[in-house]
Amino acid sequence: MTSSNSENEVKFFSGRTVPLEMHKVKVVQSVNLPVVEDRLKAIKKAGFNTFLLETPDIFLDMLTDSGTNAMSDQQVSKMFIADDAYAGSQSFTRMKQAVLDVFGKEMVLPVHQGRAAENVISQIFVRPSTFVPMNYHFTTTLAHIELRGGKVVELYKPEAMKIKSDHPFKGNIDIERLEELIRKEGREAVSFIRMEASTNLIGGQPFSLANLKEVRKVADRYSLMVVLDASLIGENAYMIKKREEAYHDSDLRSILREMSSLADIVYFSARKVSSSRGGAICTNSKELFEKMKEIVPLYEGFLTYGGISVREIEAIAVGLEETTRENVVNQSPSFIDYMVKEIDRLGMPVVMPGGALGCHIDAMQFLAHVRQEEYPAGALAAAYYIVSGVRGMERGTVSSHRDSEGRDILSDLELLRLAVPRRVFTLSQVEYVIDRLNWLYAHREMIGGLRFVEEPAVLRFFMGRMEAIGDWPEKLALQYRKEFANGL
Ligand code: F0G
Repeated sequence: MTSSNSENEVKFFSGRTVPLEMHKVKVVQSVNLPVVEDRLKAIKKAGFNTFLLETPDIFLDMLTDSGTNAMSDQQVSKMFIADDAYAGSQSFTRMKQAVLDVFGKEMVLPVHQGRAAENVISQIFVRPSTFVPMNYHFTTTLAHIELRGGKVVELYKPEAMKIKSDHPFKGNIDIERLEELIRKEGREAVSFIRMEASTNLIGGQPFSLANLKEVRKVADRYSLMVVLDASLIGENAYMIKKREEAYHDSDLRSILREMSSLADIVYFSARKVSSSRGGAICTNSKELFEKMKEIVPLYEGFLTYGGISVREIEAIAVGLEETTRENVVNQSPSFIDYMVKEIDRLGMPVVMPGGALGCHIDAMQFLAHVRQEEYPAGALAAAYYIVSGVRGMERGTVSSHRDSEGRDILSDLELLRLAVPRRVFTLSQVEYVIDRLNWLYAHREMIGGLRFVEEPAVLRFFMGRMEAIGDWPEKLALQYRKEFANGL
């Protein structure tokens, strides 16, 4: 038997370091690259909101990695043996076993996706007017905590907001400020401490195991609960192995186990962690489990399926096991690392170091002439779609909301996220993404702002519609056609 190697970055004879695809293509989906005028029409129809574009309009879908990672042949094959019993499904038994093997947690509540786990956890544990300290929020987490009357307190270090940095763990929580908050407000005023693996909204940035251990110590000192959002835990574990000296020689399985052992509750979106659908809440505490168990049948479904199709439950079981394999987990971060270095080399502002999930372009610098009230990240996402057919996602003030006076709560960062779902795109597609971004950078002065024309009160970024301020989209499309004669 040949020994398996867990690295995928190779040095070419020419000197370049290139991330190799450690898989081969078996089943494919055709994609369409519309001409620039059709892209302009599509984004106008979508109210300049990339969430409202449709698949035929999109060349490369880099909106998210949520439910869009490629499945493995092993995952798909197991879907055929799913046990569709309403209660007592053996598919769930297999998923429970996988959770135990990977996270070392014995009790598992299945839920239909990550935010459903947040709903259950928030309903049971967030008391009105209490604080929930965390390294950084995620949109749905914040919404659920606030819905219960809780207050999110983000205790990141200044480094987390620095776009170009070489800090390996920008997702760390500030331990001193955490302790200060608990001392000042009293432990009764804190519902729990939340840590998010590969902190999504600051650019998929990991925390270190040393940091998580400190969080555990503080939690123990004040008898508080630690809740770990493990939606992107595989990538965080991989970056711990790569970047934290004490773990260079550890395998992913043992890192994952240690991360999980430091939390009282581990929840995840299976859409991210295992390329499928669904989610789960996992714990070793009978007391916590019993409290949460009550409401799962009410909102999700019976305790052995929780609103997830049994076929997907089989895929989760295999997907969790695959999360312990370096050559599965490293595919997306290594492509992101390649993109980030190339984009930086070309002089464009990008969140560094590369993290998990995707490549994050800093719209505040890219479009320094667009005021934050005119949504630079939203404008950049729309402009980039027009000149590439690539769908990214706005992660800035559009993804925020308004205060009680109706003013926009300006986001800390204005990012265009180009997600790199696991094992979906090839390196030549990545090269195209970089090249069109480079073209846009050369023409960035042409891009203007956006304003809302339809604005939902909650999570407005999903369904809200905007319009361009001025005719910059038309001018941009004309310029593109001038330089690329076939409009592609
Ligand atoms: N927590 C984190 C860290 C997430 O990234 C997500 C989803 C959720 C919770 C919610 O899970 O979508 O299954 O309900 N992130 C997706 C994204 C939507 O595109 O970043 P969900």
